[in-house]
Amino acid sequence: MPINPYKPGAGHMPMYLAGRDAVIKDAQNVIDTLLSNSCARFKIYYGLRGVGKTVLLNCIEDKANENDIISVYFECAEDKNFGTHLINAIYSIINMLSIEEYLKEKVAHFKNILSAFVITWSSNPMTNENNLSLELNPENISVRKSSTLIDLLLLIGKIAREKNKPICILVDEIQYMNADDLSALLEALHRIAQKDLPIGFFGAGLPKILRVAGDSKSYAERLFSYVHIDTLKFVDAKEALIKPAEKLGVFYDENAIQTVFEITEGYPYFIQEYGNQVWEKQNANKVITKTAVEECYDSFIEQLDEGFFKNRLDRATPMEKKFMCKMVCCGSLPCNISDVSKHMGKPVKSISPMRGQLIGKGFIYDTSHGMIDFTVPQFDKYLKRVYPDL
Ligand SMILES: Nc1ncnc2c1ncn2[C@@H]1O[C@H](COP(=O)(O)OP(=O)(O)OP(=O)(O)O)[C@@H](O)[C@H]1O
Ligand SMILES: [Mg+2]
Repeated sequence: MPINPYKPGAGHMPMYLAGRDAVIKDAQNVIDTLLSNSCARFKIYYGLRGVGKTVLLNCIEDKANENDIISVYFECAEDKNFGTHLINAIYSIINMLSIEEYLKEKVAHFKNILSAFVITWSSNPMTNENNLSLELNPENISVRKSSTLIDLLLLIGKIAREKNKPICILVDEIQYMNADDLSALLEALHRIAQKDLPIGFFGAGLPKILRVAGDSKSYAERLFSYVHIDTLKFVDAKEALIKPAEKLGVFYDENAIQTVFEITEGYPYFIQEYGNQVWEKQNANKVITKTAVEECYDSFIEQLDEGFFKNRLDRATPMEKKFMCKMVCCGSLPCNISDVSKHMGKPVKSISPMRGQLIGKGFIYDTSHGMIDFTVPQFDKYLKRVYPDL
């Protein structure tokens, strides 16, 4: 049996990237605009867990590289400082730019500035200023200067334009940025757009980012184009399932495809995992039938529970778990916070902090005023498996 062609896993590039042609074409337009030494509309891809945001960003990064665009990619983490990530990214941009002979002096000077300081990220709510405060590094006491994120990005952008060397910044999991960092980033990108500098920005994150960005700056809506990365439609889900196997001489019949689609609801991660299980368990068959698919159902669920759901649930405190179970008790999703409060036997006011905490941790998001849902697809079904009394 040839090697298993399915790729279930966070950020694992599938053998066949289904249903994203329009999104990729749109990203290529951005790249083309950058190549004309101009600024293009910044993109934010948002969607639930496992829909394929990270693989999209990676795909766009590859396209940028193919077009000789300097690109940097990083992922925000719940507990890490965005400013540090960005400085590292700017650092590597500088390094890449410094390959160019004629910029050597300017870049060397800039590098000097950065390496002379211990960098901390801060914002002043009184003056509304966001600063990268640069503390002096004792090993290099000859340079003293501080700069803002905006100045840094503007300088980089000007160098990029001068050299006709566009830059692309790709940031994953942007929902983990705190309000100050996000506000500083928006401000900096706003200036980049005003100056029409050739810096592109592609972000990806959970749906929560829509609200957070809008709350942070009124112009966020115009600054970004928000692209919903959704489940795959039947035709695309079908391709995601059959294409990797087809190449290796294994075929699915129509009933089998329909069954996988119904169970996975078109979620790319689930399709990869189902294909993976079928490949492992039915390796004697060249044609996969509905029965063959059904025979793999238990191991598919087992794998999802262990590999996808469990480590997420483990990150929740007992009270957070209780809150999420009560969401399931509401009967349908999205559910109303006031219904959750009834099931918990507590006033809305007293459970609101828990709701905020769960949104912050990326478990749930608010779909519209007062309504909440899970960011992880089919998490309600999983909770019912773990707590059968629900
Ligand atoms: N368009 C697609 N076609 C086929 N498979 C896909 C597609 N997009 C993603 N996948 C698969 O789905 C899985 C999840 O992809 P990815 O990690 O990019 O999702 P994500 O949205 O970034 O999830 P998370 O929010 O958890 O980070 C991977 O196994 C990947 O191979
Ligand atoms: Mg991801």
